Amino acid sequence: MGSIKVVELFAGVGGFRLGLEQTKNRIFDVNWANQWEPSRKVQHAFDCYNKRFDTGEHVNRDIAEISDEEMAATEADMIVGGFPCQDYSVARSLNGELGIQGKKGVLFWQIIRFVQNTFPKYLLLENVDRLLKSPSSQRGRDFAVMLSTLSELGYDVEWRVINAADYGNAQRRRRVFIFAYKQGLDYSNEMSKESLENIIYKKGMFAQAFPIEGEPNKKRIAQTKLSSDIVEVSDNFKFQFYNSGILRNGEVLTIDTIPKFEKPITLKDIIQENVDDNYSLNVDQIEKFRYLRGPKKIKRTTKEGHEYYFSEGGMSETDSLDLPARTMLTSEASVNRSTHFLNINNVYRTLTPIEAERLNGFPDNWTDTMPDRMRFFCMGNALVVPVITRIGNQIEQIEQQTRDSFSQLKLF
Ligand SMILES: C[S@@+](CC[C@H](N)C(=O)[O-])C[C@H]1O[C@@H](n2cnc3c(N)ncnc32)[C@H](O)[C@@H]1O
Repeated sequence: MGSIKVVELFAGVGGFRLGLEQTKNRIFDVNWANQWEPSRKVQHAFDCYNKRFDTGEHVNRDIAEISDEEMAATEADMIVGGFPCQDYSVARSLNGELGIQGKKGVLFWQIIRFVQNTFPKYLLLENVDRLLKSPSSQRGRDFAVMLSTLSELGYDVEWRVINAADYGNAQRRRRVFIFAYKQGLDYSNEMSKESLENIIYKKGMFAQAFPIEGEPNKKRIAQTKLSSDIVEVSDNFKFQFYNSGILRNGEVLTIDTIPKFEKPITLKDIIQENVDDNYSLNVDQIEKFRYLRGPKKIKRTTKEGHEYYFSEGGMSETDSLDLPARTMLTSEASVNRSTHFLNINNVYRTLTPIEAERLNGFPDNWTDTMPDRMRFFCMGNALVVPVITRIGNQIEQIEQQTRDSFSQLKLF
């Protein structure tokens, strides 16, 4: 099997690469990576990436500054990256009927520029699941703009919201994964013989890698057609995208699917013993965590002088050790309601950086190139590595099938 040249964008500390480098047949070769943390003098994530990986070109510049020529020179077969959920709306550009103009600084458009310069076989993208619903004033618009753009560039797309804990991982981290493949590939041709429903339930990349039940949740299933006019989509499109879906030639089918749950790893399984006292909390900090996690109803006043009540429900006193961890955020190093709060044999403490790495399936001490605070920040940004390995294994199967049909072709 030939190798797949991979470009890793928004590479962070290399979650995609680590996952892809652990597949069964090791066909992925990340030969170009880009990571740049805006307005930071010290580039902790990049420095870690650079230390951990010693092949390929690693570029520490704003992606917007990468020239078209540099992009084209990567000859990417596959582009991977986790990128932010921003405003993807577009307007018709002034300099010609065909041009469209996205908002400046929106990183999705840089991914699209990369696609236009390389036309890779595959794209594998990751985002928060909110992307499917954004913005709240025009549900589904941003994701539709994304789908419509990829469709116009000649790609079909499968997506799935995956909660890593549902498939045997240690963290309840829900992210949407987007797999786009070029029309005309053997895989795409195979899929075009299937019904859209069959692709979602059985035959598609996600269906194979992350099995689901054969019936929708609460009969939630919806179909639509996307206009090829992206400005029209941006201006008028509203739709409810569910956690699974397929876009083929502008046709969209989306279904609220139910995972075939696998036994998760729990917090108890990953916690370290004999942890440094640095991570233990004093009485004041414990009280603060208790307050933050408790139920509350607080009177507040708006700038205009209106009074209202802010209320939130209570959380468990400490995080259950018998469940997978909650989602790790970039704020994990601060005293915060979302920060993990553990009681281990009556010692109250936070997570250690190694535990944070374990929750994402990174090797212990992967990020020990940087201060603790930044280690938590980078893990809050990263992804659950085994999810990527599983996707990578499935793409290897697809490549295997492609090779089979090529060798058959050669026989005649
Ligand atoms: C969600 S994180 C991706 C984390 C990565 N998947 C990992 O496993 O560590 C997005 C990354 O994009 C980087 N980034 C943000 N703006 C960028 C830009 N303009 N150019 C290049 N990288 C950027 C951030 O520094 C951050 O590390």
